[in-house]
Amino acid sequence: MDTEHFDNRPIGVFDSGYGGLTVARALQKRLPEESILYFGDSARCPYGPRDQAEVDGFVQQICTWLVGRDVKMIVIACNTATAAGLAHAQENFSVPVVGVVEPGARAAAHTTLNRRVGVIATKGTVDSNAYSDAIRHIDAGITVFSTATPRFVEIAEQGVRMAEGPIENYTSLASKVYIPPALQEIAREYLEPLRRCDIDTLVLGCTHFPLLKALIGGVVGRDVTLISSAREAARDVSEILARRQAFAAPGHVPCHEFFTTGTDVEEFRSFGSRVFRHPIGDVAHIDL
Ligand code: DGL
Repeated sequence: MDTEHFDNRPIGVFDSGYGGLTVARALQKRLPEESILYFGDSARCPYGPRDQAEVDGFVQQICTWLVGRDVKMIVIACNTATAAGLAHAQENFSVPVVGVVEPGARAAAHTTLNRRVGVIATKGTVDSNAYSDAIRHIDAGITVFSTATPRFVEIAEQGVRMAEGPIENYTSLASKVYIPPALQEIAREYLEPLRRCDIDTLVLGCTHFPLLKALIGGVVGRDVTLISSAREAARDVSEILARRQAFAAPGHVPCHEFFTTGTDVEEFRSFGSRVFRHPIGDVAHIDL
């Protein structure tokens, strides 16, 4: 009989800021015994408006750092970084590296019935065509409508700062929390053109956007299914670990470690806890 193997080393997860914590949260929910090492590159956020080659450089640099911390695999929990540097990182590193674009594209292709899919993302992600390529690779008959919605990153980060409790409450149209009309106006401006394209599925192609799900859903309406990559990406991670017999041992007490390039670690700790939905212990500042 085969002996089972386990690996208690952490899974490395990174993003330009808080957005990737939506993926870390999905990972924690699906694989509660796994340790997670989260890296938020707040000092260089946002990645969205930057040149692809520059973001690719950040990705390789962060992966090198994570491998140095002995992670067993890496999740690029940022669409912009996935589009710019995933392939390169997979070539460079011996640990498995997964991104968030392919899982989101897969979920969208499997959800749409009228084969008209919208994608909202950062400028970097939209310009890379990563989503339209990935979706059409699965079903070439799907028409993809992509729009860059850069201000949503700013709104999500701002919402985290302003809200008390989980940020979703702040941006929920159903909640009693006040949503500034300006914010709704921006969402309408971005999303109305997509709504007119008769899409039935909308990919939240930036890991910050699930935090604005209620606001976005309120504008596009109930007929449009919102897709976030987080759950699908967590499933990919689980499958890879299963294949490699690399799950943490049963009963393993996980350790969640957080690092930021930002200078305000206290801010990262308190806002991050609201996105991760678990108290975050220590956050360490790191200069790469
Ligand atoms: N969270 C990143 C993404 O998924 C974008 C935020 C940024 O522009 O840095 O694309």
